Amino acid sequence: MSNQIQEKSVLVIGASGGIGAEIVRAFVQAGAREVIAAGRKPPRHLPEGVGFIEMDVVSPESVRRAAAQVADKVSIVVNSSGINEGRRLSDIDLAGARREMEVNYFGLLNVYEAFAPAMRARKEGTFVNLLSVLAHANLPLMATYCASKAAALSLTQAMRAELAGFGVRVCAILPAVVDTAMSSAASSPKMSPIELADEIVEGVINGVEDLYPGTAAQLRIALQKDWKAVERSLAARLPPGSCTHARRD
Ligand SMILES: NC(=O)c1ccc[n+]([C@@H]2O[C@H](COP(=O)([O-])OP(=O)(O)OC[C@H]3O[C@@H](n4cnc5c(N)ncnc54)[C@H](OP(=O)(O)O)[C@@H]3O)[C@@H](O)[C@H]2O)c1
Repeated sequence: MSNQIQEKSVLVIGASGGIGAEIVRAFVQAGAREVIAAGRKPPRHLPEGVGFIEMDVVSPESVRRAAAQVADKVSIVVNSSGINEGRRLSDIDLAGARREMEVNYFGLLNVYEAFAPAMRARKEGTFVNLLSVLAHANLPLMATYCASKAAALSLTQAMRAELAGFGVRVCAILPAVVDTAMSSAASSPKMSPIELADEIVEGVINGVEDLYPGTAAQLRIALQKDWKAVERSLAARLPPGSCTHARRD
C-alpha cells in the first residue's frame, strides 16, 4: 500500500492532542493525498494544506455531521481522541469514569456508526483505533481509564469481524506510555509521539492488525507468557495501605 497512500484521504480525530498532531504530520510526510484534522476545536498548528472539521466524538450528531461532509472520500479514519482521569478506585469519581467511557468507548462506537457505511459501500478503508496496552491488564492507578480501553479493544475486535468481509481493515494501536499531556504525571520511560506516529503510518501501510510500539512490545510478550504475573505486577504499583474509599460523584 506504500504507493497507494498517495491516493488516500486520511481523517485524524483528536488532532489537537500530542499523538494526534504527530499522526497528522506523519501522514502528510508519507504523501497522503489529503489529511483532515478533526476535533472539538482546531489545533493551534496545522501543516500546510491540512483542513479541519469539527467533531465531538461524544455526540453522535456531531460525528454524523462530520461524516456527512467527508466520509465519501476518507479511506483512513484514525481515532486518536481520548481522556484519562488517572484515578484509582479508592479515589473514585463516578462522573469522570462515565466521561472516560463516553469518549474512549462510546466515542469509538459513534465513529464506527458514522463512517463504516461509506467504507462498506466502497469496499475499502482502514479504521485506526488508539487504544492502550493497558486494555489487556488493568493498572489500578488509572483503573477506570484501563476499563474503558478494555471495552474499546473488545469493540475494535467486533469492528474488525464485521468489516473484514467488506475489505475494510481495523488496526489497533496499543502503546505503553507516550510523552504527551495525558501522561505528564507518569514517571515511567515515555515513547516519543513522533516515533509512535511514524510507526502507525508504517503499520497502516503494511496492514498490521495490532501494533504494540516501543516498550508495549515487551509487555505484550510478558502477557502472552504469564498474564496473571502482569496483573499482579501492575497491582503492586498501588501504594500499600493508602485506600481511603472517598467517593465523589
Ligand atoms: N499518552 C499516553 O501515554 C497514551 C498511551 C496509550 C494510549 N494513549 C491514547 O492515545 C490517544 C491520544 O492520546 P494523547 O496522549 O495524544 O492525549 P492528549 O494529548 O490528551 O490528546 C487527547 C485528544 O483527544 C481529544 N478529545 C478529547 N475528548 C474529545 C471529544 N469528546 N471529542 C473529540 N476529541 C476529543 C482532545 O481534544 P481537545 O483538545 O478538544 O481536548 C485531544 O485532541 C488517546 O486515545 C489515549 O488514550 C495515550
